[in-house]
Amino acid sequence: MYLGIDLGTSGVKSLIIDDSHSVVAVATATLTVQRPHDGWSEQLADDWITATAETLADLKSNASGPMAAVTSIGLSGQQHGATLIDKQDKPLRPCILWNDTRSHEEAAELSSEVNCGLAGSIIFPGFTAPKLKWLEQHEPDLFDKVHKVLLPKDYLRLWLTGEYVSDLSDASGTGWLDIGKRDWSPELLSAGSMTATQMPRLVEGSEVSGTLRDELAKQYGLRSGVVVAGGAGDNAASASGMGAVADNSAFVSIGTSGVVFASNNSYRPKPASALHTFCHALPDTWHQMGVILSATDSLNWFASTTGMTAADLTAELEQAAGGSIRAPSQTTFLPYLGGERTPHNDARIRAGFTGLTHSTERTHMTQAVLEGVSFAFRDCFDALASAGTRPKRLFAVGGGTRSDYWLETIATILGVPVDLAVDGDFGAGFGAARLGQLAVSGARVEDVCTLPSVARTFEPDASLADAFESAYQRYRSLYPALSSAAD
Ligand code: XUL
Repeated sequence: MYLGIDLGTSGVKSLIIDDSHSVVAVATATLTVQRPHDGWSEQLADDWITATAETLADLKSNASGPMAAVTSIGLSGQQHGATLIDKQDKPLRPCILWNDTRSHEEAAELSSEVNCGLAGSIIFPGFTAPKLKWLEQHEPDLFDKVHKVLLPKDYLRLWLTGEYVSDLSDASGTGWLDIGKRDWSPELLSAGSMTATQMPRLVEGSEVSGTLRDELAKQYGLRSGVVVAGGAGDNAASASGMGAVADNSAFVSIGTSGVVFASNNSYRPKPASALHTFCHALPDTWHQMGVILSATDSLNWFASTTGMTAADLTAELEQAAGGSIRAPSQTTFLPYLGGERTPHNDARIRAGFTGLTHSTERTHMTQAVLEGVSFAFRDCFDALASAGTRPKRLFAVGGGTRSDYWLETIATILGVPVDLAVDGDFGAGFGAARLGQLAVSGARVEDVCTLPSVARTFEPDASLADAFESAYQRYRSLYPALSSAAD
């Protein structure tokens, strides 16, 4: 049995899988985000331990047999957060999270100063490096006390094993890693006012990072000597769960934020495209991803402003459309509610609707929201193509996959089939458990990180390809106008 622990932003999910990759037990605990100022987003690192401990206690009471048979633990987590600890391993302040934009000026400065070809991408405001530059400027007393900087899941690892270790996929989102060499970069560290001694040791996601402390093993009914694998940042962990590990294998994640992710067998950075090029969780493998900040968030925002639920809005649209998608809406929505990463790297841009008329109905606006997010995915897909990556089909994951209309729209706008996996949990916790299995068993990646079976495929609607191409060009042309409005 293999235990996977995913430290998300809204909660912790721990699950146990068996040798045939069936999920035999799951436990969850919730987390909240504190936003003390506009653009800030923080969590107390010790809340992660409390939540994780809750899930382990739950598994001990409800699945004591599987817990006692666990041989490895894999960790996955929200990326980029700056967990700053002192010499006594105590957090110096609340962790500054991935979606905190306070350090956008420091990010822009670093992006212009450093060789982004080393870092794999622009230094985005969400990355860890600009957060430390911000700290140096605004909280210098704390900055002087920083003994180690850990990513969120690596703080959990410190609790589990007593070791300072990160894995290469998560470390890729710091802005301090030489992604091609798979090691800390002296040049990037020095530009970020950091030293190598403040960094954790690095391992591959599928390697052993340490063993579980005996005290915790006893407390939670686990064996002594359970191996803790490197694990991965949440996107690379999900990819390991979805089997997106071979060159060009890809998925689109329609969650709160959206991701178009592709695995690569070589390092192919393209910082100017605002793509992220990171180490994958497996040796000699990289990945590229375009990230958009508001995917289902856009639909949820529209639902709350119209007093509806997201499910009701899409059901109403599907009923009006009558079975298949209709020609693109004359109304265009640009989904930049909280700024955008790929392709604009623009923390200031805000969303907009255009093309509203006296006859615009709610279903046209819902359609525009689904299309606007799909156009943003097309931006990411084109950015991947500009970096030499052209997936021939994509799996779709995340809450947005509940809408057939959305999936057919994405297939048509991207011009590739979109597959939906059979029911099951192929998320980050599941992928982390697989990485644990690799670490403890030495099994082959292709035997462990397999693709799920396809339940349904959404084909592009060729009859609408031209109309959607024109609508996409209109969407593209609107960004500069919104951008000047944000000035
Ligand atoms: C990736 C990113 C998010 C976080 C939160 O670059 O910022 O996906 O990992 O889950």
